Amino acid sequence: MNYDLVVLGGGPGGYLAAERAGAAGLSVTLIEKNKLGGTCLNEGCIPSKAFLQSAKVADYAKHAASYGVNASYANVDQKAVVERKNRIVRKLVGGVKVTMRETNVNVVSGEGVLVKDSEGAGVKVGEQIFYGKNIIIATGSESVMPPITGAKDAYASGKLLTNREILDLTVIPDSLTVIGGGVIGLEMASYFNSVGSRVTVIEMLDRIGGQTESQISEMLKTVYEKKGIEFILGAKVVGITDDGVNYEIGGETKKIECDKILMSVGRRANTANIGLESLNIATERGAIVTDGKMKTNVPNVYAVGDVNGKVMLAHTAYREAEVAVNTILGKTDEMSYDYIPSVIYTNPEVACVGLTEEAAQQKGINAKVVSLPMQYSGRFVAENADPDGICKLVFDIDKNTLIGAHMMGNSSGEIIYGVAMLINTAVDVETIKRQIFPHPTVSEIIRECVFKLDK
Ligand code: NAI
Repeated sequence: MNYDLVVLGGGPGGYLAAERAGAAGLSVTLIEKNKLGGTCLNEGCIPSKAFLQSAKVADYAKHAASYGVNASYANVDQKAVVERKNRIVRKLVGGVKVTMRETNVNVVSGEGVLVKDSEGAGVKVGEQIFYGKNIIIATGSESVMPPITGAKDAYASGKLLTNREILDLTVIPDSLTVIGGGVIGLEMASYFNSVGSRVTVIEMLDRIGGQTESQISEMLKTVYEKKGIEFILGAKVVGITDDGVNYEIGGETKKIECDKILMSVGRRANTANIGLESLNIATERGAIVTDGKMKTNVPNVYAVGDVNGKVMLAHTAYREAEVAVNTILGKTDEMSYDYIPSVIYTNPEVACVGLTEEAAQQKGINAKVVSLPMQYSGRFVAENADPDGICKLVFDIDKNTLIGAHMMGNSSGEIIYGVAMLINTAVDVETIKRQIFPHPTVSEIIRECVFKLDK
């Protein structure tokens, strides 16, 4: 069983690497112990977007009158939402299977462990070893479950959930406490707020949304406070009991009672029990160390996606997979982490790429920010009864280029890639001004901001 490439893990990093390598004519085996598609397709990006679309429809129904439509909102059939989500996941996982077939990838179902013997390096599944001239490790990540008193029991009893279990909840909890106001926490808080749960978010930092630009983080918080979410910031969860969560704030211990609890305090690379030691693959803080070509310290062994702990996003994994495969194919390629867009799919969406004003200043860049309400876009006004939204562009004045974009408002998640391209290709402002944006679209907000630069 000798292959040009053996890929361990069938999430976005793994299946895209297999697809690209297969399409280039390499013999490829892809090993996956659960379902193809990994966290993203089965219990992350896609299912949560299915949920959030149902929430959006519910929100439209509740506020139909604002659009001149007479409709009455009754409730959300959570079982039907989960069934719809499952259909979407099945369809997309089926799509990955078809792609693997079309690119001649040999898909092996089973738990793989890296091994090395006299015949070379490979991945062992059961009694069989799949030797690879090259190996790509793409085993992803899992939710961090901090050692908080009572967490284990609460998880076992179904009171405490991770992103995995919450996406299979068929009953809407009366109350939900979300531990961690990062991306997963905010998206799930947004969903359960829309469908009627009383939602509280407990966050250790004094802000939500992690690295999100500070004004936008604050605006998003205000929007959700108006919608009824309670944010408890600067608070540390110290215990989970049968009836709720204990947390410390300002030297005091407080308690919040709730039906369900979501643990969303980050993810950790899946590096345990995959045989890293048999190849002596170096790790740092639990993640595999990689260079700009996605190479590990061991020749011909690469690591892509969450398992290298760099930027835990599916689209980062995609690009890393391409860099690894191109390197295997002898093509020159290099991973850049500078301008990776990020989106929080709340309602309104938040989308960011590149530097904030503070980050630019720290780098000694002569930066200028242009900021406009999203209402400068006619399409945005026509489509959003709720006017909250902002677009902030950061420019390098000396180079006359765009270096950052930070947006809140629906459609911004679809617009941000175009801005990322302008940043990545260092297009000068005059060239951006000559581009024709379709009218009316929300994307025109970018053009508006660019023309405001001189004013
Ligand atoms: P995260 O790192 O985004 O946020 C975790 C938050 O929990 C942080 O704000 C942290 O300060 C807080 N926290 C940590 N310990 C805490 C404690 N004991 N009490 C209260 N707060 C605490 O992690 P999250 O949301 O779990 O997401 C995991 C990964 O999945 C991230 O890398 C994220 O980028 C990715 N993801 C991306 C999505 C997207 O791009 N839309 C959607 C969902 C996940």
